Amino acid sequence: MPHSVQAVVARSVGEPVTVETIEVPDPGPGEVLVDVKACGVCHTDLHYREGAINDEFPFLLGHEAAGIVSEVGPDVDQVSVGDFVILNWRAVCGQCRSCQRGRPWYCFATHNAVQKMTLDGEDLSPALGIGAFAEKTLVAAGQATKVDEAAPAEVAGLIGCGVMAGLGAAMNTGNVGRGDSVAVFGCGGVGDAAVAGSHLAGAHTIVAVDIDDRKLEMAREFGATHTVNSANEDPVEAIRAVTGGNGVDVAIEAVGLPTTYEQAFNARDLAGTVVLVGVPNPEARLDLPMIEVFGRGGSLKSSWYGDCLPSRDFPMLIDLYLQGRLDLDRFVSETIGLDQVEEAFHRMERGEVLRSVVVL
Ligand SMILES: NC(=O)c1ccc[n+]([C@@H]2O[C@H](COP(=O)([O-])OP(=O)(O)OC[C@H]3O[C@@H](n4cnc5c(N)ncnc54)[C@H](O)[C@@H]3O)[C@@H](O)[C@H]2O)c1
Ligand SMILES: [Zn+2]
Ligand SMILES: [Zn+2]
Repeated sequence: MPHSVQAVVARSVGEPVTVETIEVPDPGPGEVLVDVKACGVCHTDLHYREGAINDEFPFLLGHEAAGIVSEVGPDVDQVSVGDFVILNWRAVCGQCRSCQRGRPWYCFATHNAVQKMTLDGEDLSPALGIGAFAEKTLVAAGQATKVDEAAPAEVAGLIGCGVMAGLGAAMNTGNVGRGDSVAVFGCGGVGDAAVAGSHLAGAHTIVAVDIDDRKLEMAREFGATHTVNSANEDPVEAIRAVTGGNGVDVAIEAVGLPTTYEQAFNARDLAGTVVLVGVPNPEARLDLPMIEVFGRGGSLKSSWYGDCLPSRDFPMLIDLYLQGRLDLDRFVSETIGLDQVEEAFHRMERGEVLRSVVVL
């Protein structure tokens, strides 16, 4: 029997989201049904609402979630009913050419639920194949990663997207290590996680760049050693000034704009690494001096989901949290109801929050 549940839907470009009653099917082969307990509001949800990802409206938003498995379909052996899980958007296939080469974190054919959740008979497009601003959601079994249930859901869910993306941009993609210097452009939930990841990895200089002083204060709490308000001063010069005139080993862009990308590009040391984690608009273009791309050496990388492997990284990060070594509580600015997601988007745009988290 399909389940009728409350969920947050974006019906068309730029329109405020609404709470609707949607239909969620019982799990089929390889699928699981999850009672969502908490789901963070990520900027990517707003990108979907703005039509910046694709135009497959209506979207079922929400993708940064934790919950309890309530039903499993046939052929599911990874998780069982009652398991506390974080949902992920990288259920690796094990078959594609990247998985076959031993690089599953780049999997090119990740799994999502096969059956559709619907609104008035119309198929919904779940954000990042999850759709968790909902009382129940249907995912592929590999999208549910079991973690220690001692972690509160509103904290655990954040590992499912933004925090993982930022931590992994620093620790996996940027390969930040002991003694490195790092700059992070954009100190929202994702950027601050990159600051926290750099701190955890042993970076000795961490420069946080944002245009909002409140965000810079928060970045300090996550381990930034220096802060730059780039609305008031040139971040490239400021970063050179605190790195002996050289620039940083790793420059992480967590906004998704050409301007901040160029700043990151120019703020890195010779042979340094630029990591793009912010999601650009489809129209955005870069204009870089090619001689600098060549002459400075190093690498320009993109980071999807922090190049994480959920089965490896989620339980480890939750354990670090439970040991008091990774402060995830600080990311939760407020907890809200399903009917407050639209207001949470505005609070995000006004820079008032790191993460608003829907609790159910
Ligand atoms: N690559 C991935 O896997 C992945 C995963 C999650 C989110 N993201 C993307 O990461 C980006 C950040 O997400 P978030 O949830 O932290 O968003 P957010 O809105 O909470 O944070 C963005 C931050 O950038 C700052 N900012 C805006 N313009 C700036 C500028 N010109 N210079 C410096 N700082 C500026 C804002 O003040 C804010 O603090 C988004 O583009 C989001 O879609 C990517
Ligand atoms: Zn694969
Ligand atoms: Zn996200």
